[in-house]
Amino acid sequence: MKVLITNIRQLLQVRDNPVEKVSGSDMKSLPVLENAFLLIEGDRIADYGKMEDLPDMETDKVIDATGKVVLPAWCDSHTHIVYAGNREQEFVDRINGLTYEEIANRGGGILNSAKKLQDTPEEDLYEQSAKRLEEVIALGTGAVEIKSGYGLTPDAELKMLRVVKKLKENYGIPVKATFLGAHAIPEAYKSDRKGYTDLIINTMIPAVAQEGLAEYVDVFCEKGYFTTEETENILEAGKAFGLIPKIHVNQFHAIGGVQTGVKYNALSVDHLEVMRDEDIEALKGSDTMPVALPSCSYFLSIPYTPARQMIDAGLPLALATDYNPGSTPSGNMNFVVATACIKMKMTPEEAINAATINGAYAMGLAATHGSISKDKKANLIITKKVPGYAYLPYAFGSNHIEHVMINGKVCHT
Ligand code: NIG
Ligand code: FE
Repeated sequence: MKVLITNIRQLLQVRDNPVEKVSGSDMKSLPVLENAFLLIEGDRIADYGKMEDLPDMETDKVIDATGKVVLPAWCDSHTHIVYAGNREQEFVDRINGLTYEEIANRGGGILNSAKKLQDTPEEDLYEQSAKRLEEVIALGTGAVEIKSGYGLTPDAELKMLRVVKKLKENYGIPVKATFLGAHAIPEAYKSDRKGYTDLIINTMIPAVAQEGLAEYVDVFCEKGYFTTEETENILEAGKAFGLIPKIHVNQFHAIGGVQTGVKYNALSVDHLEVMRDEDIEALKGSDTMPVALPSCSYFLSIPYTPARQMIDAGLPLALATDYNPGSTPSGNMNFVVATACIKMKMTPEEAINAATINGAYAMGLAATHGSISKDKKANLIITKKVPGYAYLPYAFGSNHIEHVMINGKVCHT
């Protein structure tokens, strides 16, 4: 099947020589072809160029994109979309004055979601999660990472990861699974933290690895959750089973999680709302991708990741949603990109690089996703008619997407 997209007003993120990530001042450059065509063969990008250079060819289908922008589908490298029920009551409690921390200390927060998930049958959990995955694909997401961490028992963690596996099998986009047993200390281990980390290390990680249910291991490294020492022990255990670290750090406090991530060569360190100079220094020259989650900052009214400072220091940055029931009940990458521009002062070029190629890097997918390059997967967004790509984050409340294409097929109209 050959599909030709013609008359594209702007074709974004065109890279003849694909890069694995973009850093520092390079993030300001977004390669764009104006008045372009894009040829898709099967599930891959076969060719692209200026309309005036369009060769004669036979095709099965032509999509006229006059006045429209085409770009790689969003790469959302941090989500928790497998969860049971919602936590809108905590949202109301926060409006009425409680903090996220106070709610968590009362047994709400992650433990609240864990209770709900433990009581939810796998089938039901799958149905709820599949609906969210379909929702985010329709919003332009073409690759996604999903974490466990609302189970907090061996059975419930495995149940979550089996749901992730089923999503991976049933949907056409790449789905990367992360084991986050160290998301919170469960009620039953409140006075035996060591007992829980031992359970993670000796029981959960081997079981996850044995069933081949995850590629990554994550820890919520934060005051009141897991210390850097516990984080190191868990990452060490994960590494012994081939799990690559990808961790939650510096959301509320800087306790050295960034340094731990870099020390263990984490693929990414995520959140980073509270960054000290030494944390930025620690990331310089490393292979670890910093990931910002602006929808979480927006929803919890906490600081935004200091993107300007980090990019100006030469670092790369990726953007992701953090879609979860507590801190970010939204999987909308369009909103993430707009919020990064509006609140974090990232330029549209930087934000689009962060949400495509750098997001792909943070999932180990940079070779196949995240840019318009020959042989990469044809996972694309085709917008409605817009004046140009800066209009996408500018008009932040509107849906600009006309079609989402996954594996070369339009899947949403
Ligand atoms: O990434 N920070 C830790 N975990 C999630 C939120 C957890 C929750 O409130 O359910 C996050 O923000
Ligand atoms: Fe998260």
